[in-house]
Amino acid sequence: MGDAIDPTVGYVTGLRLAIDYGTSNTVGVLSFPDARVQPLLFDGSPLLPSAVYAAADGELLVGRDAVRSARLDPSRYEPNPKRRIDDGEVLLGDAYPVSVLIGAALAAVRREAERVAGGAVDELILTCPVAWGLRRRATLAAAARDAGLPAPTLVAEPVAAARYFASLPGIRPDPIVVYDLGAGTFDVCLVRFGPDRPEAVAHSGLADVGGIDLDELIIDRVRTAVDPGLWQRLGSPTTAGDRRAAQLLRDDARSAKETLSRHASAGLPVPLTDRDVVVGREEFDRLAEPLLARTVDATLDTIRTAGGAAGIFLVGGASRVPLVATLLHRATGIAPTILEQPETVVAQGALLTTPADALPVPEPEPSEESMEPPAPEPVPEQAHVELAAAGDAGGRGWLTLLVVVLMCIAVAAAALGRVSK
Ligand SMILES: Nc1ncnc2c1ncn2[C@@H]1O[C@H](COP(=O)(O)OP(=O)(O)OP(=O)(O)O)[C@@H](O)[C@H]1O
Ligand SMILES: [Mg+2]
Repeated sequence: MGDAIDPTVGYVTGLRLAIDYGTSNTVGVLSFPDARVQPLLFDGSPLLPSAVYAAADGELLVGRDAVRSARLDPSRYEPNPKRRIDDGEVLLGDAYPVSVLIGAALAAVRREAERVAGGAVDELILTCPVAWGLRRRATLAAAARDAGLPAPTLVAEPVAAARYFASLPGIRPDPIVVYDLGAGTFDVCLVRFGPDRPEAVAHSGLADVGGIDLDELIIDRVRTAVDPGLWQRLGSPTTAGDRRAAQLLRDDARSAKETLSRHASAGLPVPLTDRDVVVGREEFDRLAEPLLARTVDATLDTIRTAGGAAGIFLVGGASRVPLVATLLHRATGIAPTILEQPETVVAQGALLTTPADALPVPEPEPSEESMEPPAPEPVPEQAHVELAAAGDAGGRGWLTLLVVVLMCIAVAAAALGRVSK
């Protein structure tokens, strides 16, 4: 596809690809020059597992190939590279820069986009959490480069989601809460629709609440049902066989949790035994309520900080847990809206963003190989409401640095001037 710059909007209007790179799943949506929009499918599903498996020959497998290979050698498997964003390098047999692991999933999306479109992608829009600062955004941009994609435009996930919700027919509440319960984290953001663009007015998040943490509740339920000797093998596996069994338990716990959103009970086999454990919806709700109550508290704080909300929209696969909508409705008096596929809202909305929604991305470092692993950005364990997007804070940091440098130059020039007189 050739680049076509539309002079009225100033950005490329050729083949556009939006990618929502998630902790558990990656979603890609293409838009063609004739405005057709097509979600990309991976083995028939719009969700590509973000998982990576480093094969012994150095090949990086991604998606369902990685998930399938995990049981061969779980120490070569990383199910959630996004959770490792601050780690610099990840040990999967050999050490891999985290941007390479992220880039492997992005490259799989690029290949599928090129196959579907029959040509190269002209413009890339990548989403990221609203709370991510410049360092994490730079890692994501480096991953896109690694994947052979164009330099990305980065937009905040809730802004992309808000663009999507605003495009739906019917009444448009304003401001809205975007409640995003994905696999790795919980993020809540109050978005107000300004005259030109949706604005993230206040946001908060919990780094220790996501679908994976709900899976842990089911795993813990299994722990209480088996004898301590067996749990030693499943909870702290040391042999390859036990690591495989532990991986099996994690996979089955996630499936059981998902089943409980549709059925009153779910059974899961206990690995290394011929037993099953059955978990009922009510029991799961009791276990999950303390975690979900924290997301509701963070939502209430965000609404209060911003001075009220007119609608609540649910995003992220784990928001399918029925107790989420029940608790939110009870606490806010607003009936939340959930769409059929809450995992794909952010990627679809990213295609509706404009250059005005873009977050700053630092220029690539000239000698990245010699860089020290980045210091981690602070991850709040407790919800902490931020007014306005943290992304802007990153931009303000650079601005402050620039002002300080200019002032130093001015002072030095004045001193030189005095010396030469
Ligand atoms: N029916 C369901 N009931 C409960 N949870 C579900 C259901 N379907 C999917 N999930 C959970 O949703 C999570 C994946 O959601 P999603 O793809 O939105 O997350 P992500 O974008 O990868 O993560 P994050 O946004 O935290 O980076 C998984 O934990 C999955 O088990
Ligand atoms: Mg997500």
